[in-house]
Amino acid sequence: IAVDPFDLVVFGGSGDLAYRKLLPALFQRHSDGQIPPTGRIIGISRRPLSDDEYRAATRKALEEHVPADERQPEAVESFLQRIHFVTVDAMGDAGWDQLAAVLEEGKDRIRAFYLAVGPELFGTICKRLGQEGLVTPETRVIIEKPIGHDLASACAVNDAVGSVFDESQIYRIDHYLGKETVQNLMALRFGNTLFEPLWNNASIEHVQILVAETLGVEGRGGYYDTSGALRDMVQNHILQLLCLVAMEPPAHMDADSVRDEKLKVLRSLVPITETNAASTTVRGQYRAGAGPGGSVPGYTSEVENQDTKTETFVAIKAEIGNWRWAGVPFYLRTGKRLAARMSEIIVSFRPIPHSIFDQGAGALQQNKLVIRLQPDEGVRLWLMIKDPGPGGMRLRYVPLDMSFAQAFKVRSPDAYERLILDVIRGNQTLFMRRDEVEAAWRWIDPIAEAWDHSSERPKGYTAGTWGPSASVALIEREGHTWHDEAE
Ligand code: BG6
Repeated sequence: IAVDPFDLVVFGGSGDLAYRKLLPALFQRHSDGQIPPTGRIIGISRRPLSDDEYRAATRKALEEHVPADERQPEAVESFLQRIHFVTVDAMGDAGWDQLAAVLEEGKDRIRAFYLAVGPELFGTICKRLGQEGLVTPETRVIIEKPIGHDLASACAVNDAVGSVFDESQIYRIDHYLGKETVQNLMALRFGNTLFEPLWNNASIEHVQILVAETLGVEGRGGYYDTSGALRDMVQNHILQLLCLVAMEPPAHMDADSVRDEKLKVLRSLVPITETNAASTTVRGQYRAGAGPGGSVPGYTSEVENQDTKTETFVAIKAEIGNWRWAGVPFYLRTGKRLAARMSEIIVSFRPIPHSIFDQGAGALQQNKLVIRLQPDEGVRLWLMIKDPGPGGMRLRYVPLDMSFAQAFKVRSPDAYERLILDVIRGNQTLFMRRDEVEAAWRWIDPIAEAWDHSSERPKGYTAGTWGPSASVALIEREGHTWHDEAE
């Protein structure tokens, strides 16, 4: 369904995020006919580019980031007609009048400002948009992480943006929420009767959430070395996944019903502080080893900082202190330069209470529901079945397997395609509310502090492996194993 006419203004329009993600995503929606004829995309940066030069750069970005068979020449040409560029100095005075003049032509439309710039500019740009009278009632602002470095700085960002925009106009992107399989989690849980009665500590033994990457810091060392995996991945993406797995069924699918439930989960997380951090967390840092294209240097060489204690790997045993989840560990794990690129949620059900089979039937394994977010999106339910054949009762552990690519044979849209259009539609369900972001920091801050106060360095692991051995010990101490190594 096409959305209403809009002007999307991208600050940081000639930056990496715009070229790699935003423009390709908008192009895909344009190709599918979802952008009305008058919809405009207005790139903004300090660079002196003409409309034509920016269109040429956009064309190049599409060639690089949209597969050739999804790039019809007529669609590219018509898409480029939507593209405009205004040179604006976000920190100074130049260009604001021109931007106002361009926006005046579409003053009754939905207007969205995408701040694809460093968070230190969020406040300044928002204030300026307000002063220039560019914030109409139909205006929205889109910001993305890092929203702060800790609770105090996150509050400062939220205050600055909130002094100009109402919370209902603020769209905080966590691109994981735009991923198809992440939304499928809600479909799976609340569109079926099968799982919900079992979705609690009586039937579930533990949950694992894994986001593994093979890449290193990819030229973002400056940012990453001040952030680390805890702030870069756990505070946002992984906690959002945890919320969707653990939340109570919302009464409706609207933004506040869903976000209220997620907030309750974040507030129920049992604190990890200096007293229990050593037994519930592991942080690692990769050393030289294997990467996707051959051998790769260690983290300290990559960021040219031999003393850095920044973690590139985290494993955490989290607990949710409420009736549904008490006693069920949620093992969270993420890292760069791991053995495979793979994101999964693994729900491990309790073992059967009593076996009727004799020894010869083979070992009985626990049922697992594995939701694969990427790559090869899909859902697998691991079950025990009888091995076919006349040879008596032998049991086998096999997955009931649904690969989305095979089942649907459609392209899986990029997260940004869904999220940008949701902004235009005014649907905040898949965006983080202020209190959620702050509650997440409230749980993360004491972990970061405990690590800061500890004299220990992160544990080393060889690039291309599954992280430090301490992470295996963390889960095996409790009689469980990481799923990837188990299968
Ligand atoms: C970003 C992080 O938010 O997510 C990156 O800053 C990380 O460090 C990326 O690589 C992972 O996203 P995806 O969609 O590739 O899993």
